[in-house]
Amino acid sequence: KIRKPFLIANWKMHKTLGEAESFCRDFLPRVKDGGRVDIAICPPFTCLFHVKSFLASSPVKLGAQNMFWEEKGAYTGEVSPVMLVDAGCELVIIGHSERRIILGETDAMINCKVKAALQYGLLPVLCVGETLKERQEKKAKEVVRKQLQEALEGVEKTENLVIAYEPVWAIGSGLNASPEDAEEIASFIRGLLADWWDREISSRLRILYGGSVKPENISLFMQKENIDGALVGGASLDPYSFAEIVRLSV
Ligand code: G3H
Repeated sequence: KIRKPFLIANWKMHKTLGEAESFCRDFLPRVKDGGRVDIAICPPFTCLFHVKSFLASSPVKLGAQNMFWEEKGAYTGEVSPVMLVDAGCELVIIGHSERRIILGETDAMINCKVKAALQYGLLPVLCVGETLKERQEKKAKEVVRKQLQEALEGVEKTENLVIAYEPVWAIGSGLNASPEDAEEIASFIRGLLADWWDREISSRLRILYGGSVKPENISLFMQKENIDGALVGGASLDPYSFAEIVRLSV
């Protein structure tokens, strides 16, 4: 593959400082070689700075799970891109379905976040994906196209973007999408970006799959032409299982 695999741990709302530290002590010695694969950990905000201190001499990047789009101001409870950069983040997950569905995040908000991430030098990991109902109604492509179009509205073509395709019904359910279905959407996404931007950039962008990825299924996804890695939830909480996913992804 021309694109370097990218494995991202999304811890969601899990881990105290002590638990994050113990993960780092077990995980980092197992992923010393950063040459063949890019790895990132996205802890909750409260653990970012602490986790960063363990990543100093490792190839693992630090990411956040969300952010607000303004630099500072009266936005109680929000965290800005400047604060994330200051804490040592290089990337940020944007538009995760849990934020869209549980917290009411809209495509317009996601668009502001993508633009802000790029402006402040953070790599946006933009999540898209259909619900079970939408898939059953054969609307998966239509939904993904609309989410992408609105999230990227007014965004200049760029290589500094990762797309994560996460069918909502596959998240945390133990029911992963079939590698064939995931590949079909990944290839559809790459085609859209080739149309909207250009083929050259689209061929270099990394598209990840997310939804019940585990050591047992990662290699099936990685064999697919347009899948360049994974956004891993549950299986990234355990250092041994995430290290195994990393190992099996190359
Ligand atoms: O961001 C990660 C995804 O939501 C997948 O979560 O691996 O627990 O299914 P999961």
